[in-house]
Amino acid sequence: MGEIIHEMISEKQITEKISQIASQINEDYRGKEIHLICILKGSVFFCCELAKRLEVPVTMDFMAVSSYGNGTEPSGRLSVTKDLDEPIDGRHCIIVEDIIDTGFTLSMTKKMLSARGPASLKLCTLLDKPERRKTKIEAEYTGFTIPDKFVAGYGLDYAQKYRNLPYIGEAEFVED
Ligand code: IMP
Ligand code: MG
Repeated sequence: MGEIIHEMISEKQITEKISQIASQINEDYRGKEIHLICILKGSVFFCCELAKRLEVPVTMDFMAVSSYGNGTEPSGRLSVTKDLDEPIDGRHCIIVEDIIDTGFTLSMTKKMLSARGPASLKLCTLLDKPERRKTKIEAEYTGFTIPDKFVAGYGLDYAQKYRNLPYIGEAEFVED
């Protein structure tokens, strides 16, 4: 099996959307400091582009969690492979994620981080696949709602490939 990636959301569309989300966050957090929690690796591109457009003071930390192996189905288990470097108690945190699919990753991550006593904790996701949701979770900031397709690019991978694509594409799986 091989795969072909077909462009679904262009770089221009993504950039415009990130600017819109940033404006909304700038408005919502006026007078506050934001602590961005970037979920590695998929949300790195999104998180950096978002951070560059924020006008309130921003700090950033990185965390690697995963409920996926190398395939396209979730395992339903969360493993924290890299925890945050700094405490988050009393801070206004925004978790920045690439995509919400079943919702397991973010709901487990959010629960774990809530227990650390942040002043506030919101979710910001570039993509949302609501059709596949298995747990109740909604992001305060969502870039694009997409159908139940496996996508790659702009940070998202298929078997660790395609993260560097400047656009988001739909993966078509084909016989070799
Ligand atoms: P969830 O726990 O099912 O919501 O899965 C979220 C995680 O699965 C994301 O952070 C991605 O790393 C990965 N994921 C889900 N759907 C896709 C996809 O279409 N392409 C690439 N990664 C995906
Ligand atoms: Mg991810």
